[in-house]
Amino acid sequence: MKERIATAIATPNIAFVKYWGNRDERLILPAGGSISMTLDRTFTTTTTVWFSDSLSADEIWLNGKKVGPQEAKRIVEHLDLMRRAGQCRLRAKVVSRNNFPTAAGLASSASGFAALTLACAKALGVRRSMTELSALARRGSGSACRSLFGGFVEWVRGERKDGSDSIAQQIAPASHWPGLVDIVAIASEGRKHISSRDAMRRTVETSRLFKQRMQMHPGMLKQVRNAIMQKNAELLFDSIMRESNSMHAVMKDSRPPIIYMSEVSRRIVDAVRAFNADAGGMKCGYTFDAGPNAHVITTRKNEAAVRRMLARVKGVKRVVSAGVGKGPAYAAKHLFKI
Ligand code: DP6
Repeated sequence: MKERIATAIATPNIAFVKYWGNRDERLILPAGGSISMTLDRTFTTTTTVWFSDSLSADEIWLNGKKVGPQEAKRIVEHLDLMRRAGQCRLRAKVVSRNNFPTAAGLASSASGFAALTLACAKALGVRRSMTELSALARRGSGSACRSLFGGFVEWVRGERKDGSDSIAQQIAPASHWPGLVDIVAIASEGRKHISSRDAMRRTVETSRLFKQRMQMHPGMLKQVRNAIMQKNAELLFDSIMRESNSMHAVMKDSRPPIIYMSEVSRRIVDAVRAFNADAGGMKCGYTFDAGPNAHVITTRKNEAAVRRMLARVKGVKRVVSAGVGKGPAYAAKHLFKI
């Protein structure tokens, strides 16, 4: 029998228009659309999956350690989804490695579930289009559906109850705007205190501001889509800062409030504003996910100056730049031998 083993490599994406809140939590159908840029291989998740009748239970390793019960549950649920798609009942061994801090606003769940979905699909011989695989990845982690594509990606909200029209699609390839760069200013490598899923549920249930945000959301999507298509850097940077502020505002408006940004994050916000004011224009823009680390988007032309500015902010531990990536891939070399 052909060995059911495969390895996939995926990269995170940084959302310019954020996904925050579900209209259906079981199917992971978002309350609004989102737009992201897939990052290059500066940050990668590599995942090997092996399905075998010699295994009596699923075994999951992340960064050299067996995962805890909570994480394992979520991954086993995803393995079950993939087993159903591949009509297979075999248990699996999963070994996954990130080359960056996990769960600190660096979208490890996006690259993680993208790599896991692809590796399972290949190992199980699930023949589906990238769009269909992306819909499976979405069930593991919403933001993962965008990491199945390279370049600039939009995950559309969709209207149908079954979610069949809530899909991710590439709006422009990496070659469209190769000069764009995401400078990640790492303020903390710790894990987040509340998971995105729990936090967004709390926002949907308790924030009144959330309804206002959703009313303005289609306009924001249009603005960011246009900024990308026209390669209008000033409009893009201005829009992503407003959009990030809006998401963090509804987080704060939740009861009890959800606060991911730290003192260091706030200092970065000030430093970016001062930098742009000195430059006499929008040379860069920040965006924050569910964590304190900043993603400062700029162009290669201004990269060195923006890096210097961020490195000077008190509390910033490391500054790492990632460009626009081409999306996931399979690897011939596995992370373990069978
Ligand atoms: C704040 O889909 O990554 O990054 O998988 O439960 O961690 P979990 O959630 P995820 O949502 C995070 C959303 C965000 C914004 C975004 O990426 O659109």
